[in-house]
Amino acid sequence: MEVKEIERLIKISKDRPLLPETFVPWHEAPAADELFLPEGLNSLEGLEIYNTLSMQQKCDLGRHEAVQVMYSYGWSEALFCLFMNRYLLTLQPDNVEYRFLLRELIEEFRHQEMFAQAVAQLKGQPVKPTRMHNIIGQFTAKYMPHDAVFMSCLSIELITDVYGHHIRKDPKMYNVIKKISELHNIEEGRHIHFTKGLLKKYTTKAGFMKRTFYSYLVLLNVYFMRTLYVKKEIFERIGMENPGAVYKLAYKNYKRKFSATCLETVIEFVKEWNGFNGATRWAWRLLLNANV
Ligand SMILES: [Fe+2]
Ligand SMILES: [Fe+2]
Repeated sequence: MEVKEIERLIKISKDRPLLPETFVPWHEAPAADELFLPEGLNSLEGLEIYNTLSMQQKCDLGRHEAVQVMYSYGWSEALFCLFMNRYLLTLQPDNVEYRFLLRELIEEFRHQEMFAQAVAQLKGQPVKPTRMHNIIGQFTAKYMPHDAVFMSCLSIELITDVYGHHIRKDPKMYNVIKKISELHNIEEGRHIHFTKGLLKKYTTKAGFMKRTFYSYLVLLNVYFMRTLYVKKEIFERIGMENPGAVYKLAYKNYKRKFSATCLETVIEFVKEWNGFNGATRWAWRLLLNANV
């Protein structure tokens, strides 16, 4: 990416900062008929069992699953900040990438605070990432090569971007969640633009093996993120009978819905550098039901 373009992104970040403490109307309480997550994104809508739930149960399902989503964002952003600090040590402070990443760090720290506040406002009890999520996440942030971590980060940012758009266009959404998504969409839009530009220098010269590796990175990051959203504990909390069996149905249902509504931009991105081939397509179909 050209220096001029990165300078432009830095300038917008400085001239028009979006502070969660003033941008999000935290004082507004949700109205009785407002949603915390679009129904199209919860794990049970679309199944017969969903029609047997009371309004309160539907609302709580959305609330708990919205908490999972926002908690997972905060968690993955903390990991990415760890990596960005590691990466900064390889650059000099007068370097333009260095200065952009400082802006990105500032914004990502604000996002983490915003998501934590949102989880508290929703009286959330997040089901934490598993040990496996933690091991893989920390290993990636601490030890993986730079291009691989930027690729991982971008995959997650592309998914959060799509979620934000779905939330913002649903007229029934609680305004606090809507404003959080608006702020996040605007700032992540710049991060995505920058990271795509940065990764271009790696993807254009990547051969078959490297493209296969990148494709698996994107796939596994999206898959790991998705598995943080649907949790058996939530069905217990909302008082459903046999939560284990409900979880199995919900997992399959959400996998189908997620592939239909959230994968388009990720797939487009992977296509840009020919990341779908005989070694990767089957895994995308198996793990994400992707139509590739
Ligand atoms: Fe963020
Ligand atoms: Fe970001």
